[in-house]
This record gives sequence, C-alpha cells and structure tokens, in this order.
Amino acid sequence: MVVYQVYPRSFQDSDGDGIGDLAGIRARLDHLAWLGVDALWLSPIYPSPMADFGYDVADYTDVDPVFGDLAEFDRLTEAARERGLELLMDLVPCHTSIEHPWFREHPDWYIWADRPNNWVAAFGGSAWEPRDGRYYLHSFYPEQPDLDWRNPEVVAAMQDVLRFWVERGAGGYRIDAIDRLMKDPELRDDPPASEPYGLPLGDHEVKLALSNSRNGPGTSAALAKMREAVGDAFLVGEVYLPSRRWQPYSDHFDAVFAFELLLTSWDATLLNTAIRACAETGKAAWAMSNHDFGRLATRFGRENARAAALMLLTLPGPAFLYQGDEIGQGDGPPWESTFDRAGRDRFRHPMQWDGSADGGFSTGEPWLPPVDPADRNVEAQRDDPGSMLSLVRELIALRRELGDGFELLEAADGVVAYRRGGHAVAVNTTPERRPFPVRGEPRLASAPDALQGDTLAPHAGVVVQD
Ligand code: NOJ
Repeated sequence: MVVYQVYPRSFQDSDGDGIGDLAGIRARLDHLAWLGVDALWLSPIYPSPMADFGYDVADYTDVDPVFGDLAEFDRLTEAARERGLELLMDLVPCHTSIEHPWFREHPDWYIWADRPNNWVAAFGGSAWEPRDGRYYLHSFYPEQPDLDWRNPEVVAAMQDVLRFWVERGAGGYRIDAIDRLMKDPELRDDPPASEPYGLPLGDHEVKLALSNSRNGPGTSAALAKMREAVGDAFLVGEVYLPSRRWQPYSDHFDAVFAFELLLTSWDATLLNTAIRACAETGKAAWAMSNHDFGRLATRFGRENARAAALMLLTLPGPAFLYQGDEIGQGDGPPWESTFDRAGRDRFRHPMQWDGSADGGFSTGEPWLPPVDPADRNVEAQRDDPGSMLSLVRELIALRRELGDGFELLEAADGVVAYRRGGHAVAVNTTPERRPFPVRGEPRLASAPDALQGDTLAPHAGVVVQD
C-alpha cells in the first residue's frame, strides 16, 4: 500500500490559528483520495506540551485542543473510511511527556538510576537528568522520560492505549523509536564502538557501540504484547537499526522503515546496496523523507526528485510518502530553527495548496511560513499533466499492476534497475546518458524524453513492460 504521512501541524489549518488541525485534514481528504493512496499516517495528535511537537505525549487517549477533540477525530475516521482510506496513528511507547500524570503518579513506571552511566540522548548530551536526588533516563529530550517496559503495569497501560484507537477506527500504528523500548536491565555503560553502526549517527553517538542503551533483551516479548493488543491491525516500526538487525521487530510488525534507503545519497551503488539489504527481509517499508530527515526534493536534488519518486513507488512493499513530496516541495531555508531544538523546523513548513502567499494553508499567521507556494502548489500541478503531482498520481495507479516478485538487475554504472513481475524499472542517477538495461514497452517515465532509443536520459527513470 501507499501511506501518506500527514504532519498535522502543517497540513491544513481550519480555524485561523496558524496551526493545522483535524478538521483541516478532513477538508483535504479528497486530495488523498484523488492521489490514490491507501492510508494516511497522522504524526501525533495527543495532548502534549509540544516540546517535541507531540512526540512528548501527556495523554495517550485524547486529542490536543490545538488539533481538535475526539468527536472531530471520529468525524475524520468516518470521512476517511467513506473514501476507502485507512488511518494510522503514531504510537510513542518508549517515553511520555514529563507532564504526563504518570510521571508524578507512577514514578516506578520510568527508568531511574542513582548515578548516570555513559548513555547519550539522541539530540546530544547525557541521557540522564537529575530529579529528587536520583536520575531519570531520557533517550530523547529531557522533557521525554523513558518508560520502563520491564514493569508489567506499563505494558498493560500501553496495551489499553493500543486497543483504544483501534476500537475507535484506526487501522494501525506507526510505532515511534521502537528500538529504544528495552535497555540493558543492569544499565551498563555502552561499550566503545568496534564496528560501524550501519546507519548515520551523531558525533556524540558514533564512538559508542550503543548496545546497552537500546535494542535490549526482552524486546521480542514486549513486541508480542503490542501485537496481542491490536490483533491484525497494521504495525510499522521506526527501528533505527540496519536491516540485518531487524529481527525481532520484523517478526512482530508488518513492516519496518528502511532507513538505509531513507538516509542514503543519490548514488547507484549505495542505493543498490540499501535496496538489496532491505528488500531481502520482505518487511521493508520504503520512505525517502519525513519530518525528521528532510524532503525528497532537497535530499536527492531537485533534478532527481521525479526519478526518486518513481523509485519509491515501484519498490516492493509499503511506500510512505511525506506530505508535500508529491508536489516536489523542498525544505525551508536553513535558518536557525525557531521551534525545534534539534533543527528540524525546515522539514516541517506548511503544505502548499495554492499559489497565494499563505499557500492556502491558513487564513491566520502560519506557525512557519510556506516556502514557495507560487512556484509549487497542488492547485496548479493538478491541471498540469507534466507536473510532479501528475507523475506521482500515475505512479500510484501503475503500482497496482506491478507484479509481486522483485529482483535487482545488472545495469550500467550509475543505474539502479529491478524487475517487478512482468515490469522492469530503471533509474539513472547520473547527469549523463546511460544504456537502458532491458527491453520492453514503456509504461511510465519520469520525463517525456527519458528513454531515447536504448539510452536513459540523465536523472531519469522509466518503467517498462516486457
Ligand atoms: C522519532 C520521531 O519521528 C521524532 O520526531 C521524535 O523526535 C523522536 N522519535 C522521539 O519521539
């Protein structure tokens, strides 16, 4: 399936406060239905002090007033169902907000130590914060204390949360930072790194093996509890581990985000390696961008954006499309981040619906300004058969015809090629022409002149049918 990631804050404002909301999402559902996606994933909408824009949850079974309320959530689910769209929630099981009542009422639901070990927080600095003569663990911001999943009361409480939204109509969950669920029970130091981690790390993390601070013993049993709570609802895990270490996450979840692809550069050798490794697991959820790592058109270069979309939407297994990527929206200018201390504001600018100054996002002052609505917007691209939006829509439609099988093909340097049943896909990552590796009837190309005789144009991708 194709899952469209909605970052609620930046999708559509309905009440003029400059912040997107659930009623706004409902008003724009026809865009998703027209695009042909199967599901939408909502980044967190729960009540939150917003130290990490909702990834610091203060109540797992309600909606933050800035986004709406439970009645509005029900209207959104109903409207999605009418259009055949599944709705995936974002579950944040490893930490709460420091303002969650649990932190006051059940301190034993969290991880404490008498003195800090050498574990580092994802955004830098020690992962321990002093409080009342002890230290609590926070794998992310200090406002996000880590829950202790070795406490059965935590497991039971989170199973209730998992059931709550599924019973309310959610089709499943994207599960946040799940490799942080279980730590070494003895809280031993992370030893020095002896081999590369397999995914990019921050300077503060790279010298450590990170073997005790995450992915610890008991993970499989804890994931089984999650699965038990949701039955066969869809679960996709945000697992920041290379694919060779996806077990046990891949055993219990339907899919695991392929960070090797998301974080690679636009280089055929690296792309081939990432695709091969992740596809072999049979559980890859493909994504090329999100609210943490930047947009497809910026990450891979505007000249490669169309071919990248063609690749994303023809790989085998679920594909995740971040809002705005369908029109080639780019990151905002790298000005100092006003809201997110980790510098991610630039990946979160509002969706550009039309060419007006506010991009049709809000009648008020947008919390972040739109980047370039006059140059790129949904309204203009809908009417243009040559637009990125039209290409993405055609790719989503063609995707249903691609066969089940998957095989990487030999190709010239700089070309990524693979077979999907009776179709073959080739993408030229270089600025030069390259031989097209297979024969067949062109079905869809990233540009009108992508295939010239037996050669593939620079930066182009083509799908052919044998
Ligand atoms: C991953 C989320 O995508 C990110 O936005 C957040 O900061 C961390 N997990 C912590 O919840």
